[in-house]
Amino acid sequence: MVAGKVPVPVSTLFDQVGGEEKLRRILEDLYQRLFDDPMVGFLFAGHDRERIVAMQLAFTRRMLGDTSACYTGKSIPEAHASLPILPGHFDRRHKLLADVLQEHGVPEEVQQAWLQLDQGFRTSLLKTGQRRIDELKEDNGDHADPRD
Ligand code: HEM
Repeated sequence: MVAGKVPVPVSTLFDQVGGEEKLRRILEDLYQRLFDDPMVGFLFAGHDRERIVAMQLAFTRRMLGDTSACYTGKSIPEAHASLPILPGHFDRRHKLLADVLQEHGVPEEVQQAWLQLDQGFRTSLLKTGQRRIDELKEDNGDHADPRD
């Protein structure tokens, strides 16, 4: 190290949210709302909420720059392979995330950065969702689009 120069610790988005316990409270609130939501709740029915929160916690810590976190869950396409997610579902979840971040007092610029990272999964999740819709249509011997 150069004499007289003290390294300045870099603050990650994870630090700026307020650390692990704060993040856990945000995710617990988000998933409570998602499970209860009239528009997307059916997609979560039968899934283990506590497990999803635990997985999301590790995933989100890493996403927000906490390199000490270890995510051991499925890849995003794998985790959502059974879900017929449509654009409106993704957008509804994203809106509930925005509401929760605002209500938990997450700093404005951290909210924006988090929401942008979340949007980064949109294309991939919708591709997975469309694949699942196509499979369900084939299983039903139905070739009509359910959105028509
Ligand atoms: C409309 C959008 C979404 C819906 C309906 C949804 C739904 C779900 C459901 C039901 C599970 C549980 C899967 C299981 O039990 O095996 C899950 C897991 C998970 N989701 Fe999502 N999700 C959505 C978007 C996202 C996004 C945008 C991310 C990332 C930012 C994400 C990250 C995860 C993670 C990390 C898991 C845990 C994976 C594991 O179980 O190993 N999800 N999601």
